[in-house]
Order: sequence, then C-alpha cells, then structure tokens
Amino acid sequence: MTKPLNIGMIGYGFMGRTHSNAYKRVNDFFDLAYRPILKAVCGRDEQKVRDFADNWQYESVETEWQQLIARDDIDAIDICSPNNTHAEIAIAAAEAGKMVLCEKPLSMNVEEGVRMVEAVEKAGVANTVWYNYRRVPAVTLAKQLIDEGRLGRIFHYRAQFLQDWTIDANLPQGGAALWRLDVNAAGSGVTGDLLAHCIDTAIWLNGRIRDVTAMTETFVTERMHNLTGKVEKVGIDDACAFLCHFENGSLGLFESTRYARGHKALYTFEINGEHGSIRWDLHDLHRLEYFDHREESIIRGWHDVHVTDGDMPYMDKWWVPGLQIGYEHTFVHQVADFLEDLANGQPSSPTFREALETQRVCESVLQSAAKRSWSTV
Ligand SMILES: NC(=O)c1ccc[n+]([C@@H]2O[C@H](COP(=O)([O-])OP(=O)(O)OC[C@H]3O[C@@H](n4cnc5c(N)ncnc54)[C@H](O)[C@@H]3O)[C@@H](O)[C@H]2O)c1
Repeated sequence: MTKPLNIGMIGYGFMGRTHSNAYKRVNDFFDLAYRPILKAVCGRDEQKVRDFADNWQYESVETEWQQLIARDDIDAIDICSPNNTHAEIAIAAAEAGKMVLCEKPLSMNVEEGVRMVEAVEKAGVANTVWYNYRRVPAVTLAKQLIDEGRLGRIFHYRAQFLQDWTIDANLPQGGAALWRLDVNAAGSGVTGDLLAHCIDTAIWLNGRIRDVTAMTETFVTERMHNLTGKVEKVGIDDACAFLCHFENGSLGLFESTRYARGHKALYTFEINGEHGSIRWDLHDLHRLEYFDHREESIIRGWHDVHVTDGDMPYMDKWWVPGLQIGYEHTFVHQVADFLEDLANGQPSSPTFREALETQRVCESVLQSAAKRSWSTV
C-alpha cells in the first residue's frame, strides 16, 4: 500500500503541466512508498484554474496561494509560478510545516535564497528545486562516468544554452508567459533562466565554481509592458557569457542567449579530461558522446552511446533497450527521487541549500558583468 502525499500546486503554465504529468505517471513506473495525490491547484483566474483542474483531474482549486498553504489537507507545496513569487511562497509554506518543491531559479537573488534556505531548514521540511536536467538519463550517466574517474583530471567544462525567441523588437514584456522579459518578475534574463540550468549541472558534475568574469548584453533596450501599457526600459540580460575557475582547477566557459537565430533550446555541454571527454546535447537528449584516449588507437574514436539499456540510469523503469524516452521523463524521475528520499528520510538533491550555490554563481556573474572585472563566488 502506498501512502498518499497531497500536492498543492501554484501556477498552471508550462511547468504546472510538466509537474502534473509527472505526479500522475510516477507510480505507474516506479515502485515507491508514496503516491502523489493532485489535491489542489492554485491560480489567480478562477475559470482558467478550474479548466486546468478539470483537464488534469485536480480535486479542488484555490485562487490565493495563502489559502492553499493554510489547508490542513495539503502536505507539499509545489511552486510553478514566476521567480518573484518563489521566496514569499516557499517561506510561508515552510513556516506552515509543508514540504516545498520549488521551480528554478531558487530565487530572485542570493539574499532571498538565504532566507528560503533558513526557512526550510528551521522548519525541518523536505525541499527540492526542479533542476530537472540532472535527471536526463544521459546526464546522470555522465555523472557516473566522471565519478568513476574515467575522464581522469578535468581540464575544461564548456556549456551553452541557446534560444532565438526574443529577437523580434515588437515582442512585449510582462504578464503571461512574457514575465521572463520583465526584470521585476524574472530577476535576470538568460542568466537566471538558462545559465542557472548549466551552472547547476556543472556544479553537480564538476564541483564548485570559485570565481567568474562575465559580459552581458541587452540587445532590445525598450519594450511595451503588457501590465502598464507603456513602453518601458528592459532590465534583463538578453545574452550572457562567462569564464570561470572551478575549485578542482579546471576552466569553465559558459554562454547563453535568446538571440541565436535557428536555436530553440540548444543546451549542450562538453567536458575534457586527461583520459577522455564527454559531450551532450539536449536536442538529442538520449545520447551521450564519449571518447576514451586509452583505447587501442586503431579503434579509438568518439562513441555515440544510446542511453536506453536497462543498466543505464532510470532506464530499467521504462521500455526495452533501443527505445528512448524524452523531456517529460526528467520530471517523472525527479518526483520519483524526491519520494524515495522522503521514504528514506534523506535530503533530495538539489536541495534549497544546493540551489543557493547556483544562485551565488548567477549573482557573481551579473556583478562581474556590471563591474567589468572578476568576481569571487
Ligand atoms: N525546470 C525547468 O526546466 C523550467 C522550465 C520553464 C520554467 N521554469 C520555471 O518555472 C517557473 C514558472 O515558469 P513557467 O514557464 O511555467 O511560466 P508560465 O508563465 O507558463 O506559468 C506561470 C504560472 O504562474 C501563475 N502565477 C503567476 N503569478 C501567480 C501568483 N501570484 N499566484 C498564483 N499563480 C501565479 C500564472 O498564472 C501561470 O499559471 C519559473 O520560475 C521558471 O523559471 C523551469
């Protein structure tokens, strides 16, 4: 018999859908002590939130997140709303004794993030942040290969996250879906939205980042604001690139932009070590490229590993070897790991404290770009 875990989800946009799908699917594929129950979903527009609840079979709705948190029949609050809401909701949820699953980035800035970590740790509630790319089986396999020492000493870590959806200068900022262009809702542009993913994966695979030197650019400096109806200054970074030193002595090179025409969500990374290298690409997410210099020279070359066999991370839970899974499964994996950690009384990585480290790097990147000098994390 599984124990019910009553979920109260806030926000029903893009992430609201991926998380709802994950909660519904997880027990069909993973053998777990807990079963998420779609108890309530919260959104400000009553008709829209009811439509969402009907579609995804949530038992009830709320239009104010404070009401959701006050309910005795909710065990865990899942924050799927814009970045400027994370801190207030997470702290209130923790103080009410609820578990908190928070979308990334953890917060608008480090100061908020510190308060969020203090709140969940003081309350002793389970917490995690949805850096879901860690749970792509090929990325988890990369972690395994690095931890086994197959690459040897690491020299280089290179990551990019490229998009092209904000090139049109007539695209407004603010409000539904476009809150990402409004610095007051998002905190930053590509740094917090896209590089935060790259930084989380990098810290997980290659350890802490010591210092950074960065440049940012805002290509379209004024946009109509949907909420005020006025043309307003754009406060976000449209593009960002930075160099860094990792604590293990390796060098990092990161780039993100929403102005790379032709790229929709091209997240890639490459790691070069003494014995070998690893390369991964979100557009081909079930493959891991691997090079091992110690192989006999007549067969030495890049291996294109199709990460679908049952002995590869998570894959024994899905289909048969050769049949791949996709983006939505990364969220199913994160829920499965969270529920397993909960049953074992373990912290579920990345915890708020771990996600705060990514926040510190993001803040150092933005500070470095503003000062045009190196910044220590
Ligand atoms: N893990 C990932 O890969 C990933 C991908 C996309 C977004 N995100 C993060 O998820 C969060 C949400 O992004 P999204 O793409 O789902 O946005 P979205 O615009 O699609 O949805 C946001 C939702 O929040 C609701 N909302 C806004 N303010 C609210 C409030 N005060 N109270 C209740 N509901 C409110 C909106 O009505 C909407 O339903 C952001 O923090 C974003 O950075 C993470």
